[in-house]
This record gives sequence, C-alpha cells and structure tokens, in this order.
Amino acid sequence: MVFVDACFRKPTPYTPIWMMRQAGRYLPEYMEVRNKAGDFLTLCKNPEMAAEVTLQPVEILDVDAAILFSDILVIPMEMGMDLRFEKGEGPIFSDPVRTMEDIERLYDYPEERLTYVYETIKIVRQRLPKDKALIGFSGAPWTLATYMVEGSGSKTYATIKKLLYTDPAFMHALMIKLTEAVKAYLVRQIESGVNAVQIFDSWASALEREMFFEFSWDYMVDIAEFLKDRFPHIPVILFPKGIAGHLDGIYGKFDVFGVDWGTPMELAKEKLGDRYVLQGNMEPARLYSQEATKEGVEKIIETMGAKPGHIFNLGHGMLPDLPVENAKYLVKLVHDLTRR
Ligand code: CP3
Repeated sequence: MVFVDACFRKPTPYTPIWMMRQAGRYLPEYMEVRNKAGDFLTLCKNPEMAAEVTLQPVEILDVDAAILFSDILVIPMEMGMDLRFEKGEGPIFSDPVRTMEDIERLYDYPEERLTYVYETIKIVRQRLPKDKALIGFSGAPWTLATYMVEGSGSKTYATIKKLLYTDPAFMHALMIKLTEAVKAYLVRQIESGVNAVQIFDSWASALEREMFFEFSWDYMVDIAEFLKDRFPHIPVILFPKGIAGHLDGIYGKFDVFGVDWGTPMELAKEKLGDRYVLQGNMEPARLYSQEATKEGVEKIIETMGAKPGHIFNLGHGMLPDLPVENAKYLVKLVHDLTRR
C-alpha cells in the first residue's frame, strides 16, 4: 500500500494524500447517509452506514487512505458518560468528570463495548481496494479529558486547568485511565484490520510547554511505544495540534508526525524530518480557492520534495462548506506534482 510504505519512508510512485475529516458534511453523499441514519451518533453506531461513509472519500476524491468513520468521543461515551451533539454547539456531556469519585464511576473497559467500530472496520477492509489503506484512530488522553472535564468544547479550558494546577493527582489518575483505554481500543482496531493508527491531540495547544510534556505528550508516547512493541508493521501517527514552539522536545518511538497548519513545514522538517516521516500541512481554508490551493501545495512540495519522508494532508480537518471540486483538484494535483 502506497500510504503504508510512505509511513515507513519506503519509495512510492508518488506522495500519498488523505485529509483529516475527509468524510463529512461537505459531501452531499455523506449528508444523504446521515439523514437516513437520523443523527451523527446513530450513524457512528451503524456499521453498514459507517462503512459506507468511510469509503465515500476514497471513491469520490481518490485519496490514498480511508479513515474509519467514528468520533474520538465514543471512548468516554462507552465509559458511561452521557454524550449528545447539539446543532451548532458541538459535543456536550451532561455529566462532566471533576472528582476522583467521577473517575471511579467511569467504566474501565470501553473497548469491550465498541464492537460496532470493529464491525465497521471489517466491512470497510473487505470493500476497500487492496492498495488503499484504512486508518484507525483515537483521541489522545489529554484531548479526551478536555471534553470529559469541561463537559463541552471550551475557549479557556478554565475548569480542566484549575484541576491541572490545583489537583495534579486527579489529572494523572484520569490520564492513566484514558491511556489504558486508548491502548486497548487501538489494539482491537488493529486486530480488526486497520493498516495504520492516528492519535489526535487537537487541544495540545491549550497547554504551556512543561504541562504539554507532562500531561499530554508523555502519555501519547506511552501509547505509541506500547503499540510499536506489539505491532511493528502498523504505522503510528501522532498529531499534537498547535505545538510549533515545542518541536525541539518531541521524542519517542513512532513513525509519522502530523504537522498542523500553524507550524511552518520548514521548521518541522528542520526539527523532526530526519527522525519521523512528516504528514501535512495545508491550511484547510485554502480549499475555498483553487489558486490558493495550488500555491499551498507547491510550497509544501517544494519544502518536502517529491520523495520519501512526506505524506500530504491538511493541517487540520476539512470544513463543512468546502467545495468538493476543490478537494478533488487537490488530490489530483498532489499526485501529478509528485509522480516519480
Ligand atoms: O473523516 C474523518 O476524519 C473521520 C471521522 C472523524 C470525525 N471526528 C467525524 C465527525 C474523526 C477522525 C473525528 C475526530 C474528532 N472528533 C476530533 C479530533 C480531530 C479534530 O477535528 O481536531 C475531535 C476534537 C472530535 C470531537 C468532535 N466531533 C467535535 C468537536 C464535533 C463537532 C464539530 C462539528 O463539525 O460539528 C464532532 C462531530 C463530528 N465528528 C462530525 C463528523 C463528521 C460532524 C457530525 C455531523 O454533523 O454530521
């Protein structure tokens, strides 16, 4: 598979591309299935429908990898938390976790209850062309904790930060519980057939440097190394968003570092390019314009070269109103400009 080879820095016929949030509302085909399901979580829990929307971007855009259609918040949900998605507001937990008793209340083995995810993976792997990869994923413990403690998305992270500085023992207890759950969940995804895994740490940017390493990165690396020891042939991709200032401290055994759009690719290449394959990092909003897309692609390819060591991606997720035509244009452009 071109994508898996690229994760291991092996020669490939061109630089592979996929896009974070490549399945979603900008695709009319996705909206049709979601409307049939009724709502987003019902869609996630229906393996047949989740498999269908997982496959759509591969068929429509010709990306080199599918990413499992689910959400990072299914782990806390299957730990017993009450999750709902409100229109325009994003995810909400009515019962946030803020005390040791709350942590004890959480079910220890959510991976046992996530069987619909493994079923989706099996269906997708059967239907996906042999040369296309299927990427599994999880949220990083820190990003999961932000939603679990705040009870929703947050601008300031005041609730979780108060606990971080006043009760670090609470925070570590929650991180340890989540780290064990993420390990077990990703093992089950790999055993079900995913060809690579990515861990999303979308809110790494909320932490100052020392706290980032202590409460976010150390746990991510623990998960990555646990997986690499057991499944050396499965690439592990880590995506801590918004940490351009801490690249010099990045360490650990994993394969691909996801570069967000706020981090200059030159900087990531200089600090990490020798040790890790880099994935990224076009600003998603460039997709509003083909001209801006072309400029963005050329700059990134100029920096990374049409050679092993790079996987093309956006620097964060697709936006719900981006034109599908421009996404198709992007995939073709990356393939054409990097063919060797
Ligand atoms: O295509 C893919 O990338 C695979 C599916 C996927 C989704 N969410 C589907 C989704 C993945 C990998 C995620 C990860 C995810 N979920 C993250 C990490 C990546 C990131 O974007 O930073 C986070 C923080 C979440 C939590 C989450 N889920 C939020 C904040 C929201 C609401 C935002 C919004 O766009 O409304 C979701 C909902 C969600 N997850 C949607 C999709 C397609 C939109 C649901 C819908 O309205 O149909």
